[in-house]
Amino acid sequence: MVDIVNKIIMLLSKGMSNRKLYFSDHPRVDSYATEIVNLANEFFYSNNAKELYIGVIDGFFVYEGKRVFGPSVTGKQLIFIASILHCGGFGLQRGLSVTDVKKFFDITALKIIPVKKIADARALFETYGIRTIRIGDRYTDKAAALIGKKGKTWSGQRVGEGLQSPTFLYQELYDFVAKAYGSAAAGSEVNVEQAQSVSEFMLKYIQSNFADVMQYVHYPDYDSYTVGHSVRVASLAVYAGSKMGWDDKDLLAIGAAGLLHDIGKSVIPDEVLLKKGRLTEDEYLTIKDHPRAGAEILMQQKGVSEYDIAACWGHHIRYDGTGYPGQPRWAVRHPLTALLQICDVFEALTAIRPYKPALDPHIAYSIMLNDKGAFHPGILAAFISMVTLYPPGTYVRLSDRRVGMVVEVTEEIDRPNLLITGGEGGVPLESDDQYYLNLMDNKNHRVTVTKLLLDYLD
Ligand SMILES: [Fe+2]
Ligand SMILES: [Fe+2]
Repeated sequence: MVDIVNKIIMLLSKGMSNRKLYFSDHPRVDSYATEIVNLANEFFYSNNAKELYIGVIDGFFVYEGKRVFGPSVTGKQLIFIASILHCGGFGLQRGLSVTDVKKFFDITALKIIPVKKIADARALFETYGIRTIRIGDRYTDKAAALIGKKGKTWSGQRVGEGLQSPTFLYQELYDFVAKAYGSAAAGSEVNVEQAQSVSEFMLKYIQSNFADVMQYVHYPDYDSYTVGHSVRVASLAVYAGSKMGWDDKDLLAIGAAGLLHDIGKSVIPDEVLLKKGRLTEDEYLTIKDHPRAGAEILMQQKGVSEYDIAACWGHHIRYDGTGYPGQPRWAVRHPLTALLQICDVFEALTAIRPYKPALDPHIAYSIMLNDKGAFHPGILAAFISMVTLYPPGTYVRLSDRRVGMVVEVTEEIDRPNLLITGGEGGVPLESDDQYYLNLMDNKNHRVTVTKLLLDYLD
């Protein structure tokens, strides 16, 4: 069910390029059209929807009021066609027929598409007899289109009816943290309850789609890396916690606490927070104050949990009790804070920052293991065995030069289950030609991982 919209966009683009190569009734063209119809039917039935509307605005696909990032790269041709047709997107109607999809492909394969304005595009569809694909109006009000406000320009669907894809999830997490930080910085109310509901979505998706989520999570956010960092820390914590067998209640708590843990940074001026050079003593103290400031902000909010406050206060306190802002000797630390502290450091080490490159996980582990007294030893050991040398979502090169994305870790720290995305010599494979390869299978025993490709997606 996940990612149907993304898949349909990709299949439409692929169908279009195949139609350019082959005739209309070629089995390849047929099979793309059939697959699209099947997926669309799945969508209509499971969502009880009459239409699947895929919007296009400013070179991006928009679905349910939000930008869809992944397919906007792979589905460029469909975006191009939307601009040729002067339209703002396509509405696939319930009852979508294979014939109509193929006629749509026919139009896109025309050498010259005789359309000067949207009315011509609609007339053209009519001439071809296409009844189950609607041409959507162009958005003239960008803001309205992006937030999905009902208005004269928005012809998409209602926003927030459910998270359909990892892109959506990432965006939801990202938006939530950005908004929470913004509210905290302005001294207004932070919607803490939303952290819990966002965390619920995260839990649902991370168990099945951690690799996909981590893909987005890997993109470096240079200008807003505190927000990106919080999303990554929360995702890692939920993933590691679920692998360790924590129950859903604790996973929900750690997800929300992870999203909020650095909220105290929202009150640090950007000149200090993003300063590239050496910090003065005062600036350093301001930064060190963020766990205390964050806990204070959270304590004033409705619906905040004790975990949120404890994790916010304690995420820079070390296992041996040192660190900042300090804690009384009698205080017992919750495992949730201990895991979050580990995720926080691991994320900071393995992510790109304006002042440093990303480190390989094995280097991060060795730094962390050598920092005696810093982390809860049992939880750190469990974390390393769950996240491993090649965490889900990262790309690796194999000894036979194939390239794959880690989809799942296995019992062996260096032998993950992969989706092969690059053939021998690393030549990228079309998504239809990609396949799974589990390095734990006996038949693959000769193949090893030779390199982690940290910047493969860039
Ligand atoms: Fe922090
Ligand atoms: Fe942090």
